[in-house]
Amino acid sequence: MYPIFSFETVDSTNRIGWELALQGVAHGSAVKADRQTSGRGRLDRSWHSPAQKGLYCSIVIRPQVLAREYPKITLVAGLSVATALDKICGCKISLKWPNDIFLGGRKLGGILTEAFPIANDKGAAFAVVGIGVNINSRKEDFPLELVDRVTSVFLEIGREHNIHDVFKEIRKVFLGDISRFEHGQFPEILAEWQRRDMLNGKMVTWMKQSGEVICGRCLGPDSDGLLSIMDDLGNYQMVISGDVLLHVEETGF
Ligand code: BTN
Repeated sequence: MYPIFSFETVDSTNRIGWELALQGVAHGSAVKADRQTSGRGRLDRSWHSPAQKGLYCSIVIRPQVLAREYPKITLVAGLSVATALDKICGCKISLKWPNDIFLGGRKLGGILTEAFPIANDKGAAFAVVGIGVNINSRKEDFPLELVDRVTSVFLEIGREHNIHDVFKEIRKVFLGDISRFEHGQFPEILAEWQRRDMLNGKMVTWMKQSGEVICGRCLGPDSDGLLSIMDDLGNYQMVISGDVLLHVEETGF
């Protein structure tokens, strides 16, 4: 059995997962909370985490892969969350590179992977994979500035779900997918990811770290998990990080 560290309130399950990982908890251990007071998102954003409305968990993994493979973990986790939610909620989840979970054209959840990929004298390599999914939230549970861009399983499906059941399914699928990843099956995982890719073939804008803005057609993640865009001049651009935005005319709202 994989351990679960359950809390009513924490600052961030990822922070606690990181500490536990440094203390040596086993692969597959998870931290789960009813509520977070400082939930963290990607790119230094915060993750709104009201009590018992969403799934807030972090899973510690110690994958038997090389350090250079670690950036693919977020894509693996995104696919696992999508597969589990499809099964348990009967919905059709889309993915937006690199870490967004979408339903009905709005953001439903996200993944925050924090990694310590190289074993050293401080301990063995690990990654903490944080998963946030809006499950039973109503519109009034979201801050006003987010309400038009986010959704929950309840808002899309019209019925509540047991958050612990959702967690158990997600962890089961994720640990299975990590095992596939360790066995060299990233190409199959990527192909499944690409079938859910909401940006594929769409016109997008991406701002490089240098500040240069690239506009072009999104070609999806490549075999290294980096996003490929063909810019307006026909050049391939590889996106390593940052936000990729859909052109307004492509969003449909
Ligand atoms: C994102 O979309 O920017 C990623 C959001 C990740 C949120 C989850 S909630 C559980 C875990 N603990 C955190 O502090 N963040 C992640």
